[in-house]
Amino acid sequence: MSTGPARVVINLDLPGPTISRHLYGHFAEHLGRCIYGGLWVGEDSPLPNTGGIRSDVVEALKALHIPNLRWPGGCFADDYHWRDGIGPRETRPRMVNSHWGDVIEDNSFGTHEFMALCELLGAQPYVSGNVGSGTVREMSEWIEYLTRGDDSPMAGLRRRNGRDEPWTVPFWGLGNEGWGCGGNLRGDAFADLARQYATYVRDHGDNTVYRIAAGANADDYAWTESLMKALGPVEKTSTPVFQAVSFHYYTMSGDWQDKGEATSFTEDEYYRTIAQAHRVEELLTRHSTVMDRRDPHRRIGLVLDEWGTWWNVEEGTNPGFLYQQNTLRDALVASLHFDAFHRHADRLVMANIAQTVNVLQAMILTDPDTGALVLTPTYHVFEMNTGHHDAAALTAHVLDDQTRDSDGLTVPLLSASASTTGDTALVSLSNLDAGQARSVVLDLRGREMREHRARILTAPTLQSHNSPETPEAVRPRPHEALTPHPRGLLVDLPAHSYVTVSLTLGA
Ligand code: AHR
Repeated sequence: MSTGPARVVINLDLPGPTISRHLYGHFAEHLGRCIYGGLWVGEDSPLPNTGGIRSDVVEALKALHIPNLRWPGGCFADDYHWRDGIGPRETRPRMVNSHWGDVIEDNSFGTHEFMALCELLGAQPYVSGNVGSGTVREMSEWIEYLTRGDDSPMAGLRRRNGRDEPWTVPFWGLGNEGWGCGGNLRGDAFADLARQYATYVRDHGDNTVYRIAAGANADDYAWTESLMKALGPVEKTSTPVFQAVSFHYYTMSGDWQDKGEATSFTEDEYYRTIAQAHRVEELLTRHSTVMDRRDPHRRIGLVLDEWGTWWNVEEGTNPGFLYQQNTLRDALVASLHFDAFHRHADRLVMANIAQTVNVLQAMILTDPDTGALVLTPTYHVFEMNTGHHDAAALTAHVLDDQTRDSDGLTVPLLSASASTTGDTALVSLSNLDAGQARSVVLDLRGREMREHRARILTAPTLQSHNSPETPEAVRPRPHEALTPHPRGLLVDLPAHSYVTVSLTLGA
């Protein structure tokens, strides 16, 4: 097997579409310990908090420059009635969280708490409205409550609850998984509902809402077609009733019955996972193709508002809480997704990993007993990629013959993407080979490279992960294995590693 240097060709002087920072969005649902115990501990907690919001979690997340936060679900969103989550906490009604553990939700984290969290994080709110079990009036009043400035009935109610100024709410979800937990509807029926609900999610004052219709499950292209058909032909000058359609895609090494283990997996399971993660590229291409037919000017955005790994829950934890550990394999799944996102920046306007804390592919895990906080390998990929936020995509042509067949799919073992802002560029490189180190020539064209600096995320094994005992088993370090090359730079990538190369550019 040849392991000669691969080549990644980048034309530094040909910037492409902007990689919206919103591709690095997040998702926090009322599920398990994401909100309660993760983000919200309450004002009486011994853990340092700001009005009940956990300070160390906020501090850690701020380093990721989270652009937007989706809330309150997920499946929970279509059971959620926002009026239950306002006013004095002690009088808020309780409800059953029937999707997630059948536990009692006391609504202590509601609209005001969510908006305070967004303000602390510097993130823009993405509110997911209830289509499945709510009413049009309920949704209409929620956006009025949040964003209206005058003395309207809902603005008055908000003031009586302690908030004078309206908030800015740029993103609004019309339902969630309408084909499943959001109502078990058929595509055309849901599309009509999305039109109806969108009509009443009004722009109040200066607030302009970007309405996102709940979309397909993975490769259900017919669902996307239903939503696009409902919009009618989208011309350059038309004002579509909703502005984006979403879809969801989760990565696992098994199937929905047995998704695979988070930390104990074989090399075969690793490659199966990587093969499944690669599928996101095909999904992005094919949903975009469906959209192109009715929206050739790309006015409607594609939003992947749930993605990430989904493993069997950690033994000994509530199966309804979806708590899982996070290894170097999860980090490589994330880096692969981001490379695909960057390549689709002309249509993909937002993506939200599921979920921020303690649920699925989380950034942060907190110990329920001691409160100890751990940053996951996935957190570090988000942090290493902040330089791609709002940068111009550069095409990274990967010339390499190393592949692996898994699950009927041929998986390239090297992944790359790049972007540029002003006089800088950032290159992301993933060596997905479980056992072989690789060398890569960065063939840099069109501009002079003046300086370079690299960081690496790797660990002894793919199963390596962080825990309260070993919080830094997987963390980024400076990477020195770069040498000048006539074409640019020669970069050595250890097996299963993620490397970012920051470049300072001349003319
Ligand atoms: O993220 C967990 C769940 O996965 C969400 O609630 C739902 O939308 C999806 O099925």
